[in-house]
Amino acid sequence: MEEKKKIVVSGIRSTGNLHLGNYFGALRNFVRMQDDYDTRYFIADLHALTTNPDPKALHESVKAVLAEYIAAGLDPEKNTIYVQSDVPEISEMYLLLNMHVGIGELMRTASFKDKARKALGLSGDGEEIEKDIIGNSSNNGRVNAGLLTYPTLMAVDILIHKADFVPVGKDQEQHLELTRRFARRFNSFYGVDYFGEPVNFNFGSAAIKVPGLDGSGKMGKSEGNCLYLADDEKTLRKKVMRAVTDEGPKEPNQPVSQPVENLFTLMELASKPEVVAHYRDAYADCSIRYGDMKKQLAADLETIVAPIRQRILDIRDNDEYLSKVVAQGAERARAYAADTLRDVREIMGIRKI
Ligand code: TYM
Repeated sequence: MEEKKKIVVSGIRSTGNLHLGNYFGALRNFVRMQDDYDTRYFIADLHALTTNPDPKALHESVKAVLAEYIAAGLDPEKNTIYVQSDVPEISEMYLLLNMHVGIGELMRTASFKDKARKALGLSGDGEEIEKDIIGNSSNNGRVNAGLLTYPTLMAVDILIHKADFVPVGKDQEQHLELTRRFARRFNSFYGVDYFGEPVNFNFGSAAIKVPGLDGSGKMGKSEGNCLYLADDEKTLRKKVMRAVTDEGPKEPNQPVSQPVENLFTLMELASKPEVVAHYRDAYADCSIRYGDMKKQLAADLETIVAPIRQRILDIRDNDEYLSKVVAQGAERARAYAADTLRDVREIMGIRKI
């Protein structure tokens, strides 16, 4: 008998085009897993709503992410590809699971604190923002409840499929930890052994954080430091050539500064090991020229991005094809989700009279 494939679930928010953090941190693994796992990938448009996007922009972003999923190599026949909001079972289970989630634990989540601070226009990274959140009565700087319950919705995305693996970047690991905690809590509250504990997946390596080119920690849209899959060659090269560096090593084997280490990290993702070794050696013996290193990095990134960019251009305006893909995906995803929701309602005591 054929062994049942392990279930894989992951999603990306529709907040614009995908960047290389999304690609190396998540999407590349989505593609690599599609042959050996039962893979279900979605576009997290409900999660995107937590930052109140313009409706037209949201719709455009959903289409862009979908086109970029396929362009990066996801085959709609091998994967269940769907839009989160096309599966209303998710929203219902989100309501149900919220009954077992504490406000305190949600408020302590790092991503919530970050976003709440931004919404309130607070700078710095002070820990004490609870008072600011509760005291804030303005309609502009409010912290919406969807932002708070973001991890519940993410847990439902995963648990509704009874996923085994969730390929995500390092920044999502806390959310995954909460997912496991909610699963355990549900099981123990109802005395069932219903949900498993899904884990991250990166082919045996630790989860990664793709750095930005501005010397800062992470490539991210709100950091404004992204290289996009849809960037044209000139833009890509320009951004790489402008990357922050330092004055160069002054003595052999000097420690590497953060901005330069970021360049090495990108190079490790995009270039051949011998190329990385060459520049590491050049750094160590002080012969390195950052201009050369950047040119090499830009060329190696271009090799990865060029075919994806071309496919994006080929399919992004093909509405008929794109809507067919997500219609088929939604049908499959709803069937999986409906099974779980039926069980969860039954376990919680929501039964027909
Ligand atoms: P999102 O949309 O912020 O990012 C999508 C994926 O890209 C990864 N990523 C990165 N990885 C490495 N380095 C970076 N600089 C970088 N930037 C982004 C993220 O780790 C993520 O894997 N909450 C999720 C979306 C989501 C989800 C889910 C994911 C909703 N429900 C269920 C998995 C399962 C998010 O906001 O990711």
